Amino acid sequence: MSRGSRKISVIGAGNVGATCAFVLANMKIADIVLLDIYEGFAKGKALDMTQMLSVTGSSSRIIGTTDYSETKDSDIVIITSGLARKPGMSRDDLINTNTKIIKDVTEKVVQYSPNCIIIVVTNPLDAMTYVSYKVSGFPKEKVIGMAGVLDASRFKAFLSLELDVAVSKIDTLVLGGHGDDMVPLKNYTSVSGVPISQLINSKRLEEIIQRTRDGGAEIVKLLKTGSAFYAPGVSAIEMAESILKNQNKILPCCTYAEGQYGIADQFLGLPVILSSKGVEKIIEIAEVYVYPRDTDQKIPEDLKSPDNKVCVIGLVADAERLADIRRNRVAIMNDRKTSTYTDLNSITEEVEDSKKLFKKLILK
Ligand code: LAC
Repeated sequence: MSRGSRKISVIGAGNVGATCAFVLANMKIADIVLLDIYEGFAKGKALDMTQMLSVTGSSSRIIGTTDYSETKDSDIVIITSGLARKPGMSRDDLINTNTKIIKDVTEKVVQYSPNCIIIVVTNPLDAMTYVSYKVSGFPKEKVIGMAGVLDASRFKAFLSLELDVAVSKIDTLVLGGHGDDMVPLKNYTSVSGVPISQLINSKRLEEIIQRTRDGGAEIVKLLKTGSAFYAPGVSAIEMAESILKNQNKILPCCTYAEGQYGIADQFLGLPVILSSKGVEKIIEIAEVYVYPRDTDQKIPEDLKSPDNKVCVIGLVADAERLADIRRNRVAIMNDRKTSTYTDLNSITEEVEDSKKLFKKLILK
């Protein structure tokens, strides 16, 4: 690396990592290090990309390597390492294997780039971002997960196909965990400022929301041997660009909540401002309230607003919060259980062995 430009390292040269490097190379915003544990894998792909630059007119440097010292002093490190799910698997089925991988990768990343910002892409996303945060010892704003940009882009794509309108004019937010229970916010979805409810009937909108939740699985089923990579890759790069260029974009990202939306010590998808500091700020939307999972309590009927203005991710937690909702907040209903496994209790319920492993690795 000799041009004095910014530096982004991508760990894992599989489909998502290679897509990240490819898109970055064409954006000409940074030199790129593509690293993979398999000898030749990242080197071959980096060489191939280097040979495209005369055609694309980019002056980015792309290095492929197995050696973490090449990632030294990266501004941003995008972690894509780990297994992808196969047909029939949920993202959470990957927790055992990928926890070990993320721990190992994060330790090496931090050794060479102690001041970088980490973007995690590996699944199960919310849990793996938490692992990377804990292992890195970085401040919370410097470890961010990529999910909401991807989930929102899927929602926008399906809406654009349905309405036959330009996808670039659709605005939306998808929050919560990157799992089957993510929450596309229909009251925050519009086309050129026109609320989506005026353009599409509610039954059809619900079907599109469900397709969005199943968006990753739909592609896994079609590909049979892996999961999506083009949209995940560009989504990670949109986050990296906002950080590198200090663009202050508001994007739905997996971030560490410290009381926002009533959630503490958990990573989950929330709207954030992404600047050169990483997460500059978590935006709190007045009408949206997020509840941690609480299996003992059910959402009271009177909160189930017929016009879907109540947003609850997970179940109602306690009386005080309930009173808070009644006083101040309108919400959007989603009474399905959340799949934000960064909460150790929910790991207990879901994957007992994984919880032990997770505790051993992270909470020694
Ligand atoms: C998906 C993976 C990246 O949603 O989680 O396609």
